[in-house]
Amino acid sequence: MRIPLIAGNWKMNLSCRQGTDLVTSINAAVKETEVEVAVCCPSILLGCIGNAVKNTGIKLGAQNMHWEEAGAFTGEISADMLLEAKVDYVIIGHSERRHIFGETDEMVNKKVVKALSKKITPIMCIGETLDEREAEETFSVLNRQLEEGIKGVSPEEAKTMVIAYEPVWAIGTGKTATPEQANEAIGYIRNELEKLYGSQVSEELRILYGGSVKPNNATEIMNCEEIDGALVGGASLKADDFIGIIQF
Ligand code: PGA
Repeated sequence: MRIPLIAGNWKMNLSCRQGTDLVTSINAAVKETEVEVAVCCPSILLGCIGNAVKNTGIKLGAQNMHWEEAGAFTGEISADMLLEAKVDYVIIGHSERRHIFGETDEMVNKKVVKALSKKITPIMCIGETLDEREAEETFSVLNRQLEEGIKGVSPEEAKTMVIAYEPVWAIGTGKTATPEQANEAIGYIRNELEKLYGSQVSEELRILYGGSVKPNNATEIMNCEEIDGALVGGASLKADDFIGIIQF
């Protein structure tokens, strides 16, 4: 039985005060829902938002981490630092990291492996660009990003991971994949996981959809058989919108 996860990705937004107010505003709705809810805030806010979510049931997530243990990596954050901030989740390989900051499948893989070794749950993002979709390369891109991203991950570890299918063309654009497109891509990913790890892993691992999820499309997305939740950007910044999604 996969418990749905709705994770807010705040990206480079909100202050300590604004984030705390947001957590306070969504808390009652989170208490009433059966789904798991997480907020992934900028690393500098992890201490502040960690305090805000204490005793709320809301999980804490980071948006990135480095794969090395420690050392001369100016500007980077290690897994141990995230553990000290008591994070549950870390987003890895978001398309903005891949496309703006040049993250490769190999880097994503090193981060995934490191996070799992530290018992931080990675939310590994994969997804095709518009050009790739139009060239009918969606499945081959998903296949490559998936296989490269989870190289060396054991079945026991894989079960605990979260994967987010985020078509790049749907992120922050207001264009959502249709529920059929999202369900089809996520079904494909689950099938590939079954081939790699067997059905026990593919049936336990949660796969989210992300890309312009809003209160008015959350129900049809969340009701799709293959979709285990949502990674929400823009709509996670406003309490009413995020509550609307949680209560899909
Ligand atoms: P969006 O972002 O909901 O604003 O499209 C989703 C994401 O980038 O995770």
